[in-house]
Amino acid sequence: MHFLDRRVLLISGKGGVGRTTVAVALARAAARAGKRTLVCEIANPEGGPSAIGRLLGVRDVGPEPQLVEHNLDVCHLWARSGHEGFLRSVLPGKTLIRAALRSKAVDKFLTAAPSFHEMGVFHHLLSLVEAEQKGRRRYDLTVLDMPATGHTLALTGLPDILLRLMPAGPIAALLRRGQAILNDPAQGAAWVVTLPEQLPVTEAIELLDGLAETHMPAGGVLLNRMPSDPFTAPERAAVERWLDGTDGVFGEVAFRRIEAAEQARARLTAAVEAPVLDLPETDADDPVPGLVEALARHMADGGAR
Ligand SMILES: Nc1ncnc2c1ncn2[C@@H]1O[C@H](COP(=O)(O)OP(=O)(O)O)[C@@H](O)[C@H]1O
Ligand SMILES: [Mg+2]
Repeated sequence: MHFLDRRVLLISGKGGVGRTTVAVALARAAARAGKRTLVCEIANPEGGPSAIGRLLGVRDVGPEPQLVEHNLDVCHLWARSGHEGFLRSVLPGKTLIRAALRSKAVDKFLTAAPSFHEMGVFHHLLSLVEAEQKGRRRYDLTVLDMPATGHTLALTGLPDILLRLMPAGPIAALLRRGQAILNDPAQGAAWVVTLPEQLPVTEAIELLDGLAETHMPAGGVLLNRMPSDPFTAPERAAVERWLDGTDGVFGEVAFRRIEAAEQARARLTAAVEAPVLDLPETDADDPVPGLVEALARHMADGGAR
């Protein structure tokens, strides 16, 4: 099975590793490969500019999907939209819904109750993944730029936790529908973005473990900003011997960096069963196009299953 042949891809990882850049590049690569794709991020309840919007050149990213380019839509996931959608699905009649939405008590409950932020996000995500248009599924693929690690696990772990509290009723039904998609390895996968350095690699391994505990299938690891290695193994050994006999030459730092990246990569591939795909260091001012190209190459040669 091709690594993009899923309905939902969650792009996770520690902040600063390039999660957002990679999510946008992946969505664009998928759209160009002919998939009707939605890329989204979880809106910050405190507002602030959209990171995916900036990379895609869209000013006002909102909770409704908007077209960016052929086959590619963008939107925010709003806990609020999810809560509204949920009330609409369980309350009979418009009057009651309107009253509930206007109620301060309901509002307080929805924003303050533990897990209800995630619950709203979850509902909004599910409504987009299940959305239909002209009698067929609106999107082939939804790519979600996940928040920081703790919030990622709060979201992927939500169904299990809430189902233990409320095994029956409309919320339970919704959570089970979500699980049936997200936790099915044929439909959902989480990819961890990380860097070829010791600490980020350790964090990526831990995040994969955390995801597995929440029953989220692992797609694999996207090893971002992998320096390109111009050396063959014998050449590398020769340079190594030569460097050991000198003290401090130009190029040594770059050479050592490649070496450290290779070591970090080796440790990662030894520790995880899931595939590891390299993504190159690209143009610092405009990293998306180079990543789209690299991802298209992975797609062409099968990359991961
Ligand atoms: N492959 C890459 N090559 C060069 N620069 C990159 C690459 N990936 C990410 N960057 C840069 O790294 C910084 C962090 O990326 P970002 O996607 O915002 O990370 P995150 O979402 O994980 O916090 C940005 O300045 C981005 O341009
Ligand atoms: Mg980001």
